[in-house]
Amino acid sequence: MGENDTREIHENLYILVTGANSGLGFSICCRLADEFLSTHPDSQSLTIIFTTRSSRKAEDTRRRLEKYLRSSSTPSAAERVQFVSENVDLTDLHSVRLLSRRLVQTLPKLDAIVLNAGIGGWSGIDWPNAIWGVCTDLLHQVTWPPYKLAPVGVLTNKQTEGPEEPLLGYVFCANVFGHYMLAHNVAPLLQRAQTPNGPGRVIWVSSIEATTKLFHVDDLQGLRTAAPYESSKALTDILALTSDLPGTAPWAVDSFLRGDFESNPDTNGTSAAPKPTMYLSHPGVCATTIIPLALPLVYAMLIAFWGARMLGSPWHTLSTYLGACAPVFLALSGQAALDAAEKPYHQAGGGRAKWGSSSSRLGVESVACTEIDGWGYGGVVGRPVVEADRCRRRKRGAVDLTREERENFEELGRKCWKQMEELRIQWDEILDRAEKAKTSDQ
Ligand SMILES: NC(=O)c1ccc[n+]([C@@H]2O[C@H](COP(=O)([O-])OP(=O)(O)OC[C@H]3O[C@@H](n4cnc5c(N)ncnc54)[C@H](OP(=O)(O)O)[C@@H]3O)[C@@H](O)[C@H]2O)c1
Repeated sequence: MGENDTREIHENLYILVTGANSGLGFSICCRLADEFLSTHPDSQSLTIIFTTRSSRKAEDTRRRLEKYLRSSSTPSAAERVQFVSENVDLTDLHSVRLLSRRLVQTLPKLDAIVLNAGIGGWSGIDWPNAIWGVCTDLLHQVTWPPYKLAPVGVLTNKQTEGPEEPLLGYVFCANVFGHYMLAHNVAPLLQRAQTPNGPGRVIWVSSIEATTKLFHVDDLQGLRTAAPYESSKALTDILALTSDLPGTAPWAVDSFLRGDFESNPDTNGTSAAPKPTMYLSHPGVCATTIIPLALPLVYAMLIAFWGARMLGSPWHTLSTYLGACAPVFLALSGQAALDAAEKPYHQAGGGRAKWGSSSSRLGVESVACTEIDGWGYGGVVGRPVVEADRCRRRKRGAVDLTREERENFEELGRKCWKQMEELRIQWDEILDRAEKAKTSDQ
């Protein structure tokens, strides 16, 4: 690698954001640009590679992002940020492969990938329960809504022309598995990101709603549950939070994050390069079209969310720009800042935290550690160790983490990582065979 290439790698940040044409994804791109320009020296530039599902959406999104950038920065600052569009449908594993290949062939590295795209997969709302719940228990019902309805067992389209294929859950594939395959495929690019932010980061976007109570390890894809979205987000939490534990290392660090060393000239085929790291975020609760509603109901939803914020909910960010606070913090902060944020949890025997976007009543944003069933705050057993966590409003019925629950969560992580890697390897073989068959037919 020449001197110019090395300089280019050190002075440019490359960040991938999936699902950027609407809602949170669009705001993540805007906020990445804003925060990068206000925190990074003039010598550095940022390339945001954003994905949509069609060329039309890509063009429209690029136009809106560029317009935003022109309106929020000076012309010379705007030159330091570049938007590059890519297409991918995460429920089409062939499309995920094609995107991965294009990225590996065209980019020098990736500093972070923000795995934002996602679907709810809901078919409707149980209105009598929703109205009753919102009128009688507003704050909890609009933070952890129990009234969304979803069909059971929805599958993706067939992935290959082969006669038989394993089942692939639609919500699971859109929210978890498509991203999982993508992250594995671009691991060589993440490995090359060493400065200025440290090893490349995989940043998952989960939900405040995720709970292991709606996840069953023998139904990894959520094919037998009426809550496939919640199941997929719980799995996201489990994978991200246990990714650096010794028990998951054979699948997480040594296999999934290892990448293809042969395609990474910097590592000379050794495993000495720093491994990419995984972080977990959620946007709080913001108003987007992830639940499609008629316009009057959108206003009703906004009023309900605002009411919850006034009643003391720390999670009602409402705007997607505020919702982008935590993912952007994880994508842009220096490694020292992230390590400092997680230090109290590590020092108390915990591990990774789930970082959420939080808002005060007046709309003052912050990044806050989120309590999770079975993992507590940052995996620390007993009382929360950080003062701010002790003061934050909890989910009704939440109790301090016990040692047994923490051990169970680690075991759950081990089982999930094993199954995910087995599934990835199985699908990679199927896709290899399908590609080979296609080339020999031509
Ligand atoms: N809104 C909230 O309060 C909230 C709360 C917790 C978590 N989240 C999470 O935040 C993320 C973004 O959600 P949002 O609220 O911003 O929803 P949104 O406005 O519906 O955006 C979802 C994005 O994902 C893309 N997408 C959907 N299916 C895809 C697929 N198969 N392949 C590729 N891209 C796909 C969509 O593209 P199309 O436009 O082409 O469909 C869109 O760009 C999701 O992971 C969601 O679970 C949101």
